[in-house]
Amino acid sequence: MKCRRCGAEAVIELPQHRTAFCADCFLHHCRNQVRRSIDSYHMIDNTERPLVAVSGGKDSLAAWDLLLELGYQADGVYLGLGIGEYSDRSGEYARDFARQRDLTLIEIDLATDAGFTIPQAAAQRRTPCSACGLSKRHLLNKIALDHGYRVLVTGHNLDDEAAVLFGNVTRWDLRYLARQQPVLTEQDGFARRVKPLVRLSERDTAAYCVIRGIDYQVEECPLAAGNRHLGYKELLNQMEERTPGAKMDFYNGFQRRMRPLLDSIATKEKGELNPCDQCGSPTTGRLCAFCRLTEQTTKPGRPAESSPR
Ligand code: FES
Ligand code: ZN
Repeated sequence: MKCRRCGAEAVIELPQHRTAFCADCFLHHCRNQVRRSIDSYHMIDNTERPLVAVSGGKDSLAAWDLLLELGYQADGVYLGLGIGEYSDRSGEYARDFARQRDLTLIEIDLATDAGFTIPQAAAQRRTPCSACGLSKRHLLNKIALDHGYRVLVTGHNLDDEAAVLFGNVTRWDLRYLARQQPVLTEQDGFARRVKPLVRLSERDTAAYCVIRGIDYQVEECPLAAGNRHLGYKELLNQMEERTPGAKMDFYNGFQRRMRPLLDSIATKEKGELNPCDQCGSPTTGRLCAFCRLTEQTTKPGRPAESSPR
């Protein structure tokens, strides 16, 4: 098998693109895919200094590395979730990456900043992944704004996005479908949130890290076992095996064809935002979703609510 770009011996086959690459050309391909996402969705200006949310896993470290390779002066932020040894090791991978490259890594800790950990939230009958997602969205946004970053980068890849899309489609959840975009625009109280890896699969980011010599947390989060999205990923992988490119078509087709229809719903759903009584973050209610989660976890006994952002 020969590399499609230079004719050397290929090291990786990409059936979804009907192609194969040698190591150098594969890295070139990854940079190209990220460049295309950034440009076509207007994710990051050339003059901006993005903040990358790093978990210590392959996707976020690949995202950080790719942005640096593309010439962005990207910094990182790591949020400790308090998931025992898993979090300890994840933090080490993030710190090592930053230390070896002399990069700025901001560190925050859920237990110190909010007074609870994800296992404690889960003990209050919250789904761990929903408490985790909510905490990440809130605290990472806050850190970005507090430190003057306008753009927050996450390592969501094509598999992640296709799985979320699949879940939203099975429920025909128009409100969530309307908000599923590679860019959530900057607005008062919210940094712009961007996902430059939406054109790369999980297999791509793993291969990227191996070729670039990036050490990452290989273990899956112990609290994610049985998570709905892992099931959707398995289903999509089966589809992909039968029809290479199915995942890409599913996600890109949605963004191309459905996005214009959903934009009007997104605008209608926005609602009036006011500052949270407790932390000042924009919210549609009296307390933002994160402050409600904090109350329920640190003062158990209150009913759980959900919030749009
Ligand atoms: Fe968030 Fe596991 S990393 S629940
Ligand atoms: Zn709040």
